[in-house]
Amino acid sequence: MARIVLGVSGGIAAYKACSLLRLLTESGHDVTVVPTASALQFVGAPTWEALSGKPVHTDVWSGVHEVPHVRLGKQADLVVVAPATADLLAKAAHGLAGDLLTNVLLTARCPVVMAPAMHTEMWEHPATQANVETLTERGVHVVPPASGRLTGADTGPGRLPEPEDLYAVCARILEHGHPGVASPTRVDAAHTSRSAATPADEHGLEGRRVVVSAGGTREPLDPVRFLGNRSSGKQGYALARVAARRGAEVVLVAANTSLPAPDGVTVVPVQTALELQDAVLDASREADVVVMAAAVADFRPARYADAKIKKTHDPADPDAAPTIELVRNPDILARLVQERGDDASPVVVGFAAETGDADGSVLDHGRDKLVRKGCDLLVVNEVGADKTFGHDDNTVHILRQGSSHVVDAGPASKDEVAAAVWDAVQEIL
Ligand code: CTP
Repeated sequence: MARIVLGVSGGIAAYKACSLLRLLTESGHDVTVVPTASALQFVGAPTWEALSGKPVHTDVWSGVHEVPHVRLGKQADLVVVAPATADLLAKAAHGLAGDLLTNVLLTARCPVVMAPAMHTEMWEHPATQANVETLTERGVHVVPPASGRLTGADTGPGRLPEPEDLYAVCARILEHGHPGVASPTRVDAAHTSRSAATPADEHGLEGRRVVVSAGGTREPLDPVRFLGNRSSGKQGYALARVAARRGAEVVLVAANTSLPAPDGVTVVPVQTALELQDAVLDASREADVVVMAAAVADFRPARYADAKIKKTHDPADPDAAPTIELVRNPDILARLVQERGDDASPVVVGFAAETGDADGSVLDHGRDKLVRKGCDLLVVNEVGADKTFGHDDNTVHILRQGSSHVVDAGPASKDEVAAAVWDAVQEIL
């Protein structure tokens, strides 16, 4: 549990800070919200108080005996300001201290994250850029604004990144002391979040149809038992969510997941590998991209017992146990590659969960698998008892057919890893 001050300055994006606050408090952190007076024009104090469970003040005159203008900053493990307006950046860069938030910024000795959000013209103005440079030089982590729809009909850089992305930056700073490990091709994005992506990235899948499989198949043995695996489906859901945000029409074939459907995504629930195969092949007929993120069982029981398999109670053979015969499931990824036309459409992306062993490293096994499966991209995931399954962070290597170049993404949130995968797909498209 960390002590976090969430500063909110007066921009329309203040409403997104409510979701960031939820993500922080639901992760068990102790969050004090310090809005500026103008932030309260957008979201009122009762909302912040209800969501944080604490009183909210904007000036230095409330509870003076507790000296909050010094205490809050000094005691914090992290200060995050989202949104940070041009006015707030200017005040912070010049060390002004006219309200509680600017006092907190002057007294804080912990990491400080600022997420600017404003109109493109204000963001690009040399005064704002100079303030950002000053703050960055002083060690403030400035998360660059995303490109996209702004207030009214305007679009361009200036949008507050999504709360999940900001949360991921905060979580990494609290855990590692820095915002993340760079991916060689997306240094900005991996250092901060996909918010640094270019406008083309943000809309790069408009008009595209994509199919994503997620989760883990279950192969029934009898009415109460199945062979399954530990995939949570979180990475597949992140891929679907990010594709939808980038404008794609998304079908998510979900095997045994319990996650909420991402906005604007059509979810097709399945259980077994054969059901997943039918659903993926059906949805991929018109698709531009198919991403096989699901953990598909390679084998299924040869026979399904209609009634529960009982243990025997033979005193002569108390250890008797049945032998379960397995048969191979189809390799859906390989089939997608085989069945596509000469135009190499759809683009096919595979995932590989690997552990290194005596025969080779994780990457060696990944390269072999890319050649064997024939897909366009292979996202290689390092797995092990304490890695990847069910976690919110992920580390992957993205391999491309016919190229020795490797894109490393993470450790980063599954949304950021998804953004790196879609960047690689968009290069092929
Ligand atoms: N996959 C699939 N159909 C299967 C098994 C796997 O489409 N029957 C897909 C997965 O969705 C993933 C990729 O293939 O995108 C890699 O799966 P993996 O099980 O790691 O590869 P295998 O071919 O089973 O290789 P190995 O058994 O050597 O690990």
